[in-house]
Amino acid sequence: MTPSPTGLFITLEGIDGSGKSTQAQLLAEGLRAMGYDVVRTREPGGSPGAEEIRSLVLEGPPDRWSPESELLLFTAARRDHLEKTIRPALAQGKVVICDRFADSTRIYQGITRADLRNTVDALHDLMIGQEPDLTYVIDIAPEQGLARAQGRQAGEQRFEDFGLAMQAKMRAGFLALACEFSQRCHVIEGNRPPSQVAAELLNIARPHLSRLRPLAPIDPAKSPARLTPPPPHPHRSHGPPLRRKPKPSLGKPPSKPPSFPHVPTA
Ligand code: ADP
Ligand code: TYD
Repeated sequence: MTPSPTGLFITLEGIDGSGKSTQAQLLAEGLRAMGYDVVRTREPGGSPGAEEIRSLVLEGPPDRWSPESELLLFTAARRDHLEKTIRPALAQGKVVICDRFADSTRIYQGITRADLRNTVDALHDLMIGQEPDLTYVIDIAPEQGLARAQGRQAGEQRFEDFGLAMQAKMRAGFLALACEFSQRCHVIEGNRPPSQVAAELLNIARPHLSRLRPLAPIDPAKSPARLTPPPPHPHRSHGPPLRRKPKPSLGKPPSKPPSFPHVPTA
């Protein structure tokens, strides 16, 4: 594993519809409310160039690309995302929360679409070479994930069109991957209210946050000890304090999936 140079690199993985995007948003809101500088991003995408590749790989019929071409496209998108978004943010000591990363390629292109895991690993070592510090694998029954994902009615159905059998294969793949990378992976039961899942994610993240310094207290009235601004982060000598945001409401599932900006939320 390559530890992030200064920031904290968190990824969310799991089958389609498992709740990754919902939890990425709640985690980002939770950490921002604690004063951390968070960049929420996603794959494929997360930089203007990678977002263009996203349309190429996610739209069209399932047989649009061979598994090999697809692997090259996802890797090209990831390389651009890493160069333009992830590494600069980590170098500034930020928390990067990424909805899917290389583990998705290990599963989708590595075992589900074809038996390409060795090629996936070789290409990853050659072109990416970055692993997350912390990965949540959100686990959910394939039927439930598919039903949730299809309820979204987005235009990006190419992978969801692969069907239930493939969702089941991917779920097993993600669980095996969590064992393979057990140091950084945490399997999370996704069939619970979003607020419960979010609370568990935040608890797991806490020990990793100790090496980062929040930019501003959540609420000075409630945190008198933190009224004095913390000393500057050793790796961050610039930048205004975060605007304080209200705590996220974790009570009920969002009525619609969180929208995602073309480029990451800073
Ligand atoms: P993913 O990013 O893994 O595909 P999403 O976060 O987009 O999953 O969630 C898919 C759908 O399921 C969305 O409509 C979302 O509102 C809903 N959803 C997410 N988490 C939960 C949950 N814990 N319980 C019920 N519905 C959920
Ligand atoms: P997206 O809508 O972002 O995922 P989800 O349905 O989980 O919210 O779609 C991304 C799709 O791309 C998803 O089906 C998984 C697939 N994918 C790969 O096949 N390989 C990859 O490397 C990545 C990052 C995603």
